[in-house]
Amino acid sequence: MKTAPVKAAATKTATPKTTAPKEIPVKATAAKPAPKAATPKAPKSAAPESTPNPFRNGMRRSRAPEPATLVIFGVTGDLSRRKLLSAVFGLWQDGLLGSAFNIVGVGRQEMTDEQFRDYAAEALKTSKETDAIVPGNLEKFRELLYYEYGDFATDEVYDRVGKQLDEAENAHGGRKNAVFYLSTPPSLFEPISAGLGRLGLQDESEGWRRIIIEKPFGTTLQTARHLNDAIHSVWDESQVYRIDHYLGKETVQNLMAIRFGNAIFEPVWNRSYVDHVQITAAEDLGLEGRAGYYEEAGIIRDMLQNHLMQLFTLVAMEPPVAFDEGAIRDEKVKVLRAVKPIPASQVKFSAVRGQYGPGTLAGERVPGYREEPGVAEGSSTPTFVAIKLEIENWRWQGVPFFIRTGKRLPKKVTEIAVVFKKPPLGLFPGGLERNVLAFRIQPDEGVSLKFSSKTPGQENQLREVTMDFRYDAFGAGLESPYSRLVLDAMLGDATLFPREDEVDHAWQLVSGMLDAWEGKAAAEFPNYAAGSWGPEAADELMGPDRRWRRL
Ligand code: BG6
Repeated sequence: MKTAPVKAAATKTATPKTTAPKEIPVKATAAKPAPKAATPKAPKSAAPESTPNPFRNGMRRSRAPEPATLVIFGVTGDLSRRKLLSAVFGLWQDGLLGSAFNIVGVGRQEMTDEQFRDYAAEALKTSKETDAIVPGNLEKFRELLYYEYGDFATDEVYDRVGKQLDEAENAHGGRKNAVFYLSTPPSLFEPISAGLGRLGLQDESEGWRRIIIEKPFGTTLQTARHLNDAIHSVWDESQVYRIDHYLGKETVQNLMAIRFGNAIFEPVWNRSYVDHVQITAAEDLGLEGRAGYYEEAGIIRDMLQNHLMQLFTLVAMEPPVAFDEGAIRDEKVKVLRAVKPIPASQVKFSAVRGQYGPGTLAGERVPGYREEPGVAEGSSTPTFVAIKLEIENWRWQGVPFFIRTGKRLPKKVTEIAVVFKKPPLGLFPGGLERNVLAFRIQPDEGVSLKFSSKTPGQENQLREVTMDFRYDAFGAGLESPYSRLVLDAMLGDATLFPREDEVDHAWQLVSGMLDAWEGKAAAEFPNYAAGSWGPEAADELMGPDRRWRRL
């Protein structure tokens, strides 16, 4: 079962925090019935916190974007239905979308505005990711929604979207600000970008225009480069927001905050003190009906090239000269450039692939990957990968980074563990253990430090103990990564979006694996049982003196 981000329902205020956005009258296109005239009504302002929590002192939410339209292509797709609409609704309900905002959903399915509003309301009511809905707010939110449908290959649909933006102009104070969110299958990224370009919708002379592109960005290094070129033939890089929702996770951002907001970590964050780093992104889920996509993608494209590489760069990067998009992305690229390449011929020494067979998860028998509906008999698509990366720079020379991710592992857990060297001398019985600083990205978000302590009694006996910080101490709940990222894009802050060169380097790093493995039958598959921690070879990758953490 997929673990939803920690919900705010219990702790989040149930009333909007500031005056809610007004509705934007957008006229209907000729082909469709006119949308109902909007009746602007402002929801009440937020009630004060009822339970004072010292951790929340000083926390505030004050960023509001300029009036804008969010155009979501693929709005009837899975991502939009389950996460995106909820995230945007949450932003709006919290009063974070400014005074004038509306959404134009675009899909291939024929629907009127009113039908789309019903669709969206239903999606919001059924998604596990929707915040507690303040009574009356759903009705108001509906009025912000419009819909266009058509064939993405023809100009007609872009023409109608352009008209919607024109209509919104007056309500938006004369600005035609827009974010185009491409939540579609990747094969449509290029045609949609080109279609918007043909109609001049990327033009910023009357307001800013930005494009958010979902993952996977390309399927190989070559196709990613091609896609970047195609996008750049229409958009300037400053308008492009490649989304990786892991960067929107609160606890992922906390990695940077902890590293660079404290003095105690930086001095030990290097080869003198760190033995190795482990990054795990385990999922108990299997395919969830996505065989068509997954058979093509596999774990490398689905998780390693993007989410895991992002976690890796954030742990390994140098301190940026400023906390801004240029400086942070420069440092991330530098560390990717410093990684020792793994050419296809070396992959067998540095990487392990796996595919799950039948097994038991949470007490239930689950089928193997090859038995999943839609998967080819004898498929060699990997559902697990473990790699060892080495960084050739002064900070990390000789410190291996072990990264693993897989489907149908025993549980959903994402963790980054910095494992320190053993003490130089064993003065006490009980063994020399390595200290571990572990960042729990999800679930049970937090940070823990494992160290040795004397046990009570006459003996000088040591035992490992843990010091824990739980993120829920803030009592604020964690917002959806999509809320954070959509808002950032609307504010023009690209810090948490991978830049062109970053994506390119991440592809370079996984290319050796794709070359070595693709098109070659994996005789060893399936090589791990569903519900286990992956193939044994992944343990061997660590060498004799290190082991994966038990999570
Ligand atoms: C998506 C992948 O990008 O990330 C999915 O396509 C995966 O296969 C998901 O399940 C994991 O995200 P999260 O936020 O649930 O860890």
